[in-house]
Amino acid sequence: MKAIITSGGKGTRLRPITHTQNKHLIPIANKPILYYALDTIAGTGIKEVGIVTNQEGMEVRNDIGDGSRWGVNVTYIEQSAPLGLAHVIKISEDFIAGEPFIFYLGDNMVVGGVKRFIDAFEQDNVNCFLTLARVKDPERFGVPEIVGNRIISVEEKPAQPKSKFAVAGIYIYDQAIFEAVNNIKPSARGELEISDAHQYLLEHGYKVGYSEITGWWKDTGKPADLLEANRLVLEHLEPAIQRGTVKDSTIAGNVIIGEGAQICNSNVRGPVIIGKRTKIENSYVGPFTSIYDDCIVRNSEVEFSIVLCQCQIINVGIRIESSILGNDVQIVKAKEKPATHKFMIGDQSRVELV
Ligand code: G1P
Repeated sequence: MKAIITSGGKGTRLRPITHTQNKHLIPIANKPILYYALDTIAGTGIKEVGIVTNQEGMEVRNDIGDGSRWGVNVTYIEQSAPLGLAHVIKISEDFIAGEPFIFYLGDNMVVGGVKRFIDAFEQDNVNCFLTLARVKDPERFGVPEIVGNRIISVEEKPAQPKSKFAVAGIYIYDQAIFEAVNNIKPSARGELEISDAHQYLLEHGYKVGYSEITGWWKDTGKPADLLEANRLVLEHLEPAIQRGTVKDSTIAGNVIIGEGAQICNSNVRGPVIIGKRTKIENSYVGPFTSIYDDCIVRNSEVEFSIVLCQCQIINVGIRIESSILGNDVQIVKAKEKPATHKFMIGDQSRVELV
């Protein structure tokens, strides 16, 4: 079996962060989202991995390299335009070369691995195996209609979903999928939809199996999803050796402190991860917070947030919560009078004030 992982897309719902960074490389608990996908695939024993990039895919190539860090061989496949997930499969046919494969959307995160789904695909002898997750907002996803224990239809982002399930971005196929992706037509948004390929398989007598993802699954498409994924990953992190220094501080729960980090006169309540060389001084860092490398948090409070590289949060009078700060962001108290809010904010940023 081989694997295809997607890493393209524009990440429009995660702007402004995605103006300068591929969404798949945004860290969750200080580790890029795509690394979790590679960990999951490598965990199945699969060795041949195709990573599909968009034309600006150098960032992913430079970061992931040849895959040897995961013990896999990575082949890069370029998708020239965002023509849909079924199109991704279409252009990967040569790489797949007749083998069954797992198709993994690189912005999906799942706990518990995917080996169990590969086993079920093989045991049930199906042409296509879908993974389903119960969600509050199925209209955002591909949605199956299930009668008895069979999927009888799949619709992409339906206005009136026929079940409470989302088809998660982890699919397993044999060669029948190529017949499907080569016969469907683009949707109204001009894309070859993966759900239409599944519908084709159902209509043409192919066997489509499924399993519900128990535990958790997240599609990290929106800011709230990133925060939730961050919370879930932090909650499951194993305690690690503390590499930084802690002075006159209270540390409660699982707090992972990176090399060269300094925590001084502060209160940190885990689960929290603090990156290398980051300084937390006279501050409070609350549960479900990831602060990346080389940041400074001084005389401030941060909770349930993701803070990327080289940020400075200094003398901020109110607690920062449910926030995502991109790289090199500064939130500081204004020094001069009058006491006003001053902003220097990039395109498509969002600030919420009390
Ligand atoms: C894509 C698929 C959708 C699937 C979802 C899972 O949606 O088109 O069927 O349920 O991934 O993450 P997108 O994230 O492109 O909106």
